[in-house]
Amino acid sequence: MRQSLENKVVIVTGASKGIGAKLVGGLQALGAKVILTARDETTLLASARKDDLVVAGDLMLDSTRERIVQETVARYGRIDAVINNAGRGSYYTATESPLDDSRAMFELNFFAPLHLAQLAAPWLRKSRGSLVNVSSIAGQLSLPWLPVYSASKFALAALTSGQAMELARNGVHVMAVFPGYVDTDFQAHAAGSCPPDNVVKGKKFAVSAGECAAAIIRGMESRQRVVVTPRIGWPLVVFSRLFPGLVESRMELR
Ligand SMILES: NC(=O)c1ccc[n+]([C@@H]2O[C@H](COP(=O)([O-])OP(=O)(O)OC[C@H]3O[C@@H](n4cnc5c(N)ncnc54)[C@H](OP(=O)(O)O)[C@@H]3O)[C@@H](O)[C@H]2O)c1
Repeated sequence: MRQSLENKVVIVTGASKGIGAKLVGGLQALGAKVILTARDETTLLASARKDDLVVAGDLMLDSTRERIVQETVARYGRIDAVINNAGRGSYYTATESPLDDSRAMFELNFFAPLHLAQLAAPWLRKSRGSLVNVSSIAGQLSLPWLPVYSASKFALAALTSGQAMELARNGVHVMAVFPGYVDTDFQAHAAGSCPPDNVVKGKKFAVSAGECAAAIIRGMESRQRVVVTPRIGWPLVVFSRLFPGLVESRMELR
């Protein structure tokens, strides 16, 4: 059954840049009312249309997540979808990753989506809406140049699976998204040193932020359980499950 997003009230985190900014444009084109959230208020205000709402703030803070839900409900009286897209990377190896950076990354990549989903759950149950969590291919296959980021995205994937099983009885659609390489400024916004050369070279296989956002929106419309984008990521996921040692040996840091 195809779900129209016209007039739906959709919260998008990380709406100022990259994949989130393209999600905003795609949802607006379908007639959704979008709640744009991120720290960069100026950019959000420039992308918002008259039926949209901007709630700027730092998602590391509980108070920002609470404000997003409160202001959305005050304005529209409902929530039809939450897209937990905001996130950041960290190019530290596992043995060198500073604990404060590791904890901060979990706060943004895992605890913010968890908390926002908890706050929005009563409204999503009412609307039989959608909860979308943007994990990563790194949430299926641990990447040695981003191991703590991978761990946070594995955690988000596990959470999404649990949320899907919990909320199915309420008719809420829960979807996990596993993008591969997407051409955004993600690397520039990450902490730690530069990614290794083979990672930078991988950029030639990247999909655009627009393509990634379109795959997410198609997944919402058709209420898919999982989106892997680009689809070429699927064989990698299956291969790494079947032959983990082989895949790990090919990815070892030299
Ligand atoms: N690019 C890739 O190759 C790739 C691959 C797989 C998965 N992903 C995932 O896709 C999602 C989007 O990534 P992207 O590539 O679009 O990255 P991006 O271009 O760096 O955008 C990140 C977004 O998150 C927001 N954000 C960051 N820290 C925040 C904070 N503390 N509070 C509120 N908002 C915050 C940023 O807005 P402000 O700076 O304005 O706050 C920005 O809108 C992330 O979860 C990422 O892990 C990306």
